[in-house]
Amino acid sequence: MSKLLWNETLPDDPNHFSTIDLYLINMPDTGLHQRFHNILQETELQVANAYMQEHRHHLSVASRTALRLLLSLYINEHPAEIILQKNEFQKPLLSDAYELNFNVSHTNEQILIGFSRLGPIGVDMEFTQSNIDWPMIAKRYFSPAENEKINNATVPQHAFYQLWTAKEAFMKGVGSGFQFPLHHFFINYQDQEHGKVISTIPLYPPDWMTRNFDLSDDCVGAIASPTDLNQLRCFHFNTNSINKIAALWHLP
Ligand SMILES: CC(C)(COP(=O)(O)OP(=O)(O)OC[C@H]1O[C@@H](n2cnc3c(N)ncnc32)[C@H](O)[C@@H]1OP(=O)(O)O)[C@@H](O)C(=O)NCCC(=O)NCCS
Repeated sequence: MSKLLWNETLPDDPNHFSTIDLYLINMPDTGLHQRFHNILQETELQVANAYMQEHRHHLSVASRTALRLLLSLYINEHPAEIILQKNEFQKPLLSDAYELNFNVSHTNEQILIGFSRLGPIGVDMEFTQSNIDWPMIAKRYFSPAENEKINNATVPQHAFYQLWTAKEAFMKGVGSGFQFPLHHFFINYQDQEHGKVISTIPLYPPDWMTRNFDLSDDCVGAIASPTDLNQLRCFHFNTNSINKIAALWHLP
């Protein structure tokens, strides 16, 4: 699998771009769970406060904060004033007028956010060392070809998670999440990382593609969109970049 190149600076052209822009945030490095509480809406704080585990609370705050900061860069609106809508399955969206699609995934202490002006987008990441009964899930919900791909892989558990993230990125991209029946589509891999979604349910827009990548030795990610996924730019959303956006909006 090809290695993604991660930029340590912000893109020069966030208003005009014809790529998919992917941001990876390592929460503890950024302190995003402690700064900028005042840019979150009351409802976002309520969602975060409902988490019993402190780390889940922090991740929820940091994720929404990162999303608002980055959106402010792309749509040139103050992070606190951005209005986020939701579809019927709770997918956060901007009004169509912005012509900007985004999607978020978070796990442990990592946050992944994708932006695209080319079409809807879904992102997902997962740690591969979990205790779930992955062979049972694969057997029950994945196609015979997908099971064969997993069984033939050098590390089957890793291959399972690649497929899982590709599927979840697709389901998040179309906006229905797990309400999209898992047994109604499969990923037809064209090489190690690029897949085409084959669905028995008609898709609008059609022709969804997926792309897998490794984020670390034990963390995999995927994006899905009905566009060319080779036009991909990757950024670490680090403290420098965060401070730059904070300065733009005179945030403390
Ligand atoms: C979307 C979904 C797959 C996310 O699962 P998860 O394991 O929490 O996954 P991730 O960490 O990758 O993603 C979380 C983010 O996905 C986004 N999201 C939520 N619902 C979404 C949807 N329907 N489609 C795409 N993205 C969605 C949000 O930004 C969320 O972050 P937030 O909670 O900080 O706002 C899962 O919640 C789902 O299937 N939801 C929709 C349908 C459903 O059953 N809803 C139940 C409540 S009505």
